[in-house]
Amino acid sequence: MSWDPAAYLTFDDHRSRPFHDLLARVGHTDPRRVVDLGCGPGHLTGLLRRRWPAAAIDALDSSPEMVADALGRGVPARQADVRDWHPGPVDDVVVCNAVLQWVPGHQELLARWMGELPPGGWFAMQVPGNFAAPSHVLVRELLTEPAWRGRVQVRDELAVATPAEYAEPVAGTGAEVDAWESSYLHRLTGKDAVLKWITGTALRPVEAALGEADWARFQTELAPRLREAYPPRPDGTTWFPFRRLFLVARTAG
Ligand SMILES: C[S@@+](CC[C@H](N)C(=O)[O-])C[C@H]1O[C@@H](n2cnc3c(N)ncnc32)[C@H](O)[C@@H]1O
Repeated sequence: MSWDPAAYLTFDDHRSRPFHDLLARVGHTDPRRVVDLGCGPGHLTGLLRRRWPAAAIDALDSSPEMVADALGRGVPARQADVRDWHPGPVDDVVVCNAVLQWVPGHQELLARWMGELPPGGWFAMQVPGNFAAPSHVLVRELLTEPAWRGRVQVRDELAVATPAEYAEPVAGTGAEVDAWESSYLHRLTGKDAVLKWITGTALRPVEAALGEADWARFQTELAPRLREAYPPRPDGTTWFPFRRLFLVARTAG
């Protein structure tokens, strides 16, 4: 599955909001190194740099397209898989925003990372919690119809846990834990805005699995269903509710 940085950066203002809310709860004042796990196009990594100008930055992502885009933005990104990553002794702040929903079994990674972070280290993550929302359910329903059945696997509600399910094992490591969820109400502009939004993220596996013609047909079939679930307002904007789950933890010491 490949990423399209330009498609992902559509609605950048809306998509970035949880990153700000996440960062606001990280209390480190003088980290030696800040890690951006799954940095994507690196536009938010720049905010880490601005917040902690004296810190070294380590930004990594598994997508070559995203790494290239981040490098083009001046972010020293490298290609790596978060599953292989281990915190180093000066990794005082680790941020992982909108990434772990793509990583099955990531709760085990959290426990490992918490055990490996330096004393007083901060870990901050956010994942979407909208897999039961029409934007995702309608995709899964369409994929069960004869034309599409068995052709692509997309993530379902099991892709992420609940805030309590994230918080409990992390608290069990002795860390201080701050976990919450927020529902944003994005006001999107443009035609078929919800389709456009999920084309940059949730539909990446669908686009990757279908040829060009089938991908166009899939979007044509999905668009009216999404319009019915998220009707455009008379001024052309569309309300798009979006639940997100957050966890910020600080290791003892
Ligand atoms: C929705 S984007 C989020 C990017 C960025 N963190 C942000 O908040 O804008 C998800 C990113 O996670 C990356 N990703 C997914 N699985 C990964 C893995 N196993 N290791 C590293 N990066 C991964 C993708 O390549 C993609 O760039």
